[in-house]
Amino acid sequence: MTQSVTTAWQRLTELATHPYSLTDLFAKDSEVTSNTNHAANAWNRVEEFQASACGIHLDYSKQLIDQQVWHTLLELAEEKNLTDKIAAMLSGEAVNVSEKRPALHTALRLPTDATLELEGVNIVKDIHDTLDKMEDMVEQIRGKLWRGFAGDAITDVVNLGVGGSDLGPLMASTALSGLATTDIQVHFVSNMDGGQLELLLKHLNPKTTLFIIASKSFSTLDTLSNAQTALAWLETFTSRQTALRRHFIGLSANSQKMMEWGVPTTNQLTLWYWVGGRFSLWSAIGFAVAIQIGMKHFKALLAGANAMDEHFAITAFHKNLPVILGLIGVWNSTFLGINAHTVLPYDGRLKYLPSYLTQLEMESNGKSVDTQGRPIDYATCPILWGEVGSNAQHAFYQLLHQGTQQVSCDFIASIHRYEIASKGLKEQHLLSLANCIAQSRVLAFGNLPQEQANISKSAKTIDHSRQYRGNQPSSTLLLNELTPQTLGALVALYEHKVYVMASIWDINPFDQWGVEMGKKVALDVYDALLDEFSHSSNLPRLQSIAIQTNKTDFDASTLALLTQISQR
Ligand code: F6P
Repeated sequence: MTQSVTTAWQRLTELATHPYSLTDLFAKDSEVTSNTNHAANAWNRVEEFQASACGIHLDYSKQLIDQQVWHTLLELAEEKNLTDKIAAMLSGEAVNVSEKRPALHTALRLPTDATLELEGVNIVKDIHDTLDKMEDMVEQIRGKLWRGFAGDAITDVVNLGVGGSDLGPLMASTALSGLATTDIQVHFVSNMDGGQLELLLKHLNPKTTLFIIASKSFSTLDTLSNAQTALAWLETFTSRQTALRRHFIGLSANSQKMMEWGVPTTNQLTLWYWVGGRFSLWSAIGFAVAIQIGMKHFKALLAGANAMDEHFAITAFHKNLPVILGLIGVWNSTFLGINAHTVLPYDGRLKYLPSYLTQLEMESNGKSVDTQGRPIDYATCPILWGEVGSNAQHAFYQLLHQGTQQVSCDFIASIHRYEIASKGLKEQHLLSLANCIAQSRVLAFGNLPQEQANISKSAKTIDHSRQYRGNQPSSTLLLNELTPQTLGALVALYEHKVYVMASIWDINPFDQWGVEMGKKVALDVYDALLDEFSHSSNLPRLQSIAIQTNKTDFDASTLALLTQISQR
């Protein structure tokens, strides 16, 4: 028996053996309500299974839970000392146990007058000093004071980063692009293959382009190879020194490495070892977003996240949005065995939210050892993916409606949009909202009895291909409107959901050792490819951080693929 099995855990294991039908759960709960005269016994499923905070309303009534399951999940949170674990993270304890570090992304959004001491130093001051330097650089660029090598103002900013150094700023910049208060274009380049950069460089003006090298470690090859290509491009127009001084800004926790690469100290913004890459949007990694929307809106994004942090810290679990989403996630994955989860924003501005959450949830909680390093025997993070809901309807909803897999869903929509826009746009917004609500209804309840009767009557026999079985669990998150504040709160909500799940599972969500090995092996293969391609012999060897595998140590399949490549 693993450490995670508590009384509530055992009870939930038993409860999970019962069948849960959303149609029955809704019918039963409305029956209880209509038959109950005594106020103390009154129970309204929809009222009980909803909560609101920070401009976000959460309806989780369409989850496969009843009162007993829900109360037992709340007991599980108590048994797992969730209150203490939340306090430990927020106060800067070393909750990243394998790396013996705090995970203090929440400190990045504390207001100026807050205090948080780490090793005797008030880190809030450091954070705000960096924000001030960031503001200064942002204003220089937006105010056309930052000039390129020929004296021109910057027209294009290219963020070179990958993972958390790309997905966070890309997601936020797309979500808030309507607030852009500059004509500077912001671009994002992450692919290692150089394709994105090749397309961009064809159109960019070297005199007016600024590159941001965003990399917490400043050792990620994807990013550094893109930066190297960008520098080589600029060097065909100006000297290396001028290019580095006028056209590169570095964002990293490793100032030494930025310097070695050539980014002058004045062009550097630093972050801290205690900020995880996938939690770093709130640090200088958000630079591209700040250029696009200005520091006022960037600070509003931080304030929205901080409001969610406070809600998370002090709200009773049954009304605490991250705790609710986290407990439901654990119930679905570990107890009901639902191993797929999809995020469906009905708002094109949230186009990159699913990709962002893919990293946030799967890189954090894709773990199979507990915090003591012992193997665990229960399911942790489900496979997560998603897409703008209305596009997904025409792509993968068929599987959700009639496939053989159970999939849990998060529907996300904004209530207010296009307040002062055309009638046509307002109608489109309502249509999108209607689809969001309709889809969660059909996924939950399938064909309603009347619809089934109509289909059968017209077809004379039961046509199973037209039956929707329903019973796909979902939550719906309604934002009052999409603003920097509500976006900040939404993202912080998911960050804390991840932490709640990790706390219940006894896993460390803040490391990612699984990713490291692949990076090292790629370097060995790269060197082997260099050996095969004589015409590439002027390319640099990158073996220095690799694990020094001999080519003869490669497996047969790897060798065969290398042979195929070299023979063509
Ligand atoms: O994929 C591994 C990872 O370390 C992520 O956690 C991180 O967001 C990404 O690589 C980029 O890292 P860096 O910001 O150090 O370049």
